[in-house]
Amino acid sequence: MTCRVVILISGSGTNLQALIDAAPKLDFKIEMVVSNKSGVLGLKRAKKHKIPYKVIEHQSFDSREEFDRDLSAIIEKINPNLIVLAGFMRILGAEFISKFQNHILNIHPSLLPKYPGINTHQRALDAGDHEHGATVHFVTEGLDCGPIIAQDSVLINSSDTAKTLALKTLEKEHVLYPKVVGWFAAGRLKLENGKVLLDQKILPPNGIATSS
Ligand code: GRF
Repeated sequence: MTCRVVILISGSGTNLQALIDAAPKLDFKIEMVVSNKSGVLGLKRAKKHKIPYKVIEHQSFDSREEFDRDLSAIIEKINPNLIVLAGFMRILGAEFISKFQNHILNIHPSLLPKYPGINTHQRALDAGDHEHGATVHFVTEGLDCGPIIAQDSVLINSSDTAKTLALKTLEKEHVLYPKVVGWFAAGRLKLENGKVLLDQKILPPNGIATSS
């Protein structure tokens, strides 16, 4: 059975594009793209590929809970197997997360648990790190701290800036995210009792180190 996916975005949607390109080969179907910002490039990508999309602007809600409730209602109508956060820059509340628990993935541009939150590339440079990268994890309550599934890393050179590092990391993201969504779609990946299982084996705390 094809895995039905809803993707949440806030911006350029390059990860969305990587997922759109991979979907036919990996047996998942993007049923809808939802953005909390209008006019973003990610929405144009959805439109171009004839994927239904919706904008639900967080500014038009009085509270985070109301935004989450509207978003839940949209997603519940679709009843997807998986929700994929792809550059979605909103923190989802506990109620939303518990409703869809074990079925939400996020990609984050750092080697978590290092640098949750924003400005990850600059923070890695400021810390004098020699490597950086991206992490895909299940979403649980708390910012960027859910159980880790997989990471891919890049070396930091002395000439790197936050911009070059972001680009190098993004390239890795575009390979890593479809790979992990493909595992989920194939029924190989699960979150059970807080543990990440791939092919029925519990993964270590930092997940699988993939290389692209
Ligand atoms: C990516 O680095 C993603 O990891 C982060 O936001 C960035 C947005 O990328 N969460 P895009 O919208 O997929 O191009």
